[in-house]
Amino acid sequence: MSKNEVAVSLLNVDQEGAVSMFYKLETAKIDYFHIDVMDGIFVENNTHDKMYEFATTLANITTIKQDIHLMVEDVKKYVDLYSPLGRNRITFHIEALKTSDEILEMINYIKDTGNQVGLAVSPDTGIDEVYPYLPYIHSVIVMTVQPGKGGQKLIKDTLLKITQLRNAIDEFNNDIDIEADGGINDTNCETVKNAGANILLAGTYVVKNDNIDEAIKKLRGI
Ligand code: DX5
Ligand code: ZN
Repeated sequence: MSKNEVAVSLLNVDQEGAVSMFYKLETAKIDYFHIDVMDGIFVENNTHDKMYEFATTLANITTIKQDIHLMVEDVKKYVDLYSPLGRNRITFHIEALKTSDEILEMINYIKDTGNQVGLAVSPDTGIDEVYPYLPYIHSVIVMTVQPGKGGQKLIKDTLLKITQLRNAIDEFNNDIDIEADGGINDTNCETVKNAGANILLAGTYVVKNDNIDEAIKKLRGI
């Protein structure tokens, strides 16, 4: 069974003061820095410049893994940009590529860079779309909000998708992580974990919290 972990999205971290936030998060012993890369095409916002600056800084100051979430149309372009930054995890959206051959090719392309690979599924995409790829990937990000911005409310219907996916993974007896991404906080994290997610990703709830250590402990259920 995959262990329970916490990832924190840097989307709403301001550039000035970012490094002190990184150290606070490292002290709070998070498991992943979640890098939300948006290209302004796949989703409206474009966050690449800020996210690339954060990712390169982090690569030089910490050993905590980066959980790079590509919300982009040209997946290869951004894999080429972010994969040299270390042995991290790179997740692309299943909706960004057209055929299963392209998806399988991209999965192998990312693995060949020495990074782990994940698939992300938006709220309106059926969770069964990822099933054919489960034998080849390390994780699935189940979007619990519409991709494109932080601070949204968790969409309850997505919890069923997490449970269906957890059942499918258990059937394969695979050790694949399920990461819930969006709108997660202390009031819903237990529900999300019980639905079957083993990685909780939070952005606003943590980075805008006066007590980051406390926020991380609450997400861990401590
Ligand atoms: C949304 C991103 C999420 C988001 C999470 O497109 O993928 O990672 O930043 O932020 P919160 O926790 O504020 O919803
Ligand atoms: Zn994300």
